[in-house]
Amino acid sequence: MKVMVVGAGTMGSGIAQVFAQWEEAERVYLADVDAALAENGKRLIAKTLARLVAKERLSQEQADAVLDKLVTGTKEIGADADWVIEAAIEDVAAKKRLLRELDGIVREDAVFATNTSSLSITELSAGLNHTLIGMHFFNPAPVMKLVEIISGALTPQNVAERAEMLAKSLGKEPVRVKEAPGFVVNRLLIPMINEAVFLLSEGVASAEDIDTAMRLGANHPMGPLALCDLIGLDVVLTIMQTLQAETGDDKYRPAPLLRKMVRAGKLGRKSGEGFFSYK
Ligand SMILES: NC(=O)c1ccc[n+]([C@@H]2O[C@H](COP(=O)([O-])OP(=O)(O)OC[C@H]3O[C@@H](n4cnc5c(N)ncnc54)[C@H](O)[C@@H]3O)[C@@H](O)[C@H]2O)c1
Repeated sequence: MKVMVVGAGTMGSGIAQVFAQWEEAERVYLADVDAALAENGKRLIAKTLARLVAKERLSQEQADAVLDKLVTGTKEIGADADWVIEAAIEDVAAKKRLLRELDGIVREDAVFATNTSSLSITELSAGLNHTLIGMHFFNPAPVMKLVEIISGALTPQNVAERAEMLAKSLGKEPVRVKEAPGFVVNRLLIPMINEAVFLLSEGVASAEDIDTAMRLGANHPMGPLALCDLIGLDVVLTIMQTLQAETGDDKYRPAPLLRKMVRAGKLGRKSGEGFFSYK
């Protein structure tokens, strides 16, 4: 099978690695807006594989074989792909434009999947000739077992079955989800993080104590505020806004402190500061 992953950032490079390590993948195209960005994605994968080789979890020959399967460039390189995984930025207009462009490039019988965290699969698939399904991988994709398989109103049942089989064959644990804002994980997880930000802004407890409480009281491996820093405060805010806009329910109102910190550029680990400092 030939697979194209479009968007070579955090998720796209992780997903491309998962496919390139899968014995049934003959070739994995990794595409981005320009070839240099796609090549960066491949470098990220090479680094991850080198760490696995150092830990003796992979041989050098296996790592080389994975890298040999990865072909980088812009989306035109994957015209003969059987599956396309879209992993570009979480912006509905940008994703729609990209999917429309891919519609005109990739062979007609290919299946399109999107790694969107919260957007409507039905909206993204409107007007496409290709079938679209949600395949929501988690970060880091090579490590995290879960894949949410999301059917939109236009997704045929047999495509959902194929996506589920594909995820299993990649060594993942798929769950089938009907389209709904945030799907399952983000509908539960992101409002919990948002609530932690409310607790902090109300002065109920310190950031450290909120996180300690959830680590020790709920057995979470990481506290909600440290997790928010890891995901990115901007990403958490966007998902809360999507939940609120799509449901019209104010229970999904983003915490004003979250909005303020995003405006201040305090985005979490990626900016060096969020609820905790990473400088
Ligand atoms: N980061 C996470 O924890 C996470 C988890 C699950 C799902 N997601 C979803 O995965 C997707 C990607 O997120 P990310 O964190 O990897 O983002 P990222 O910013 O790290 O990477 C996005 C990449 O897409 C590229 N891109 C943008 N427009 C493009 C286009 N038109 N054509 C080709 N490439 C394009 C960018 O250049 C960038 O390299 C989003 O939809 C996000 O919601 C993210």
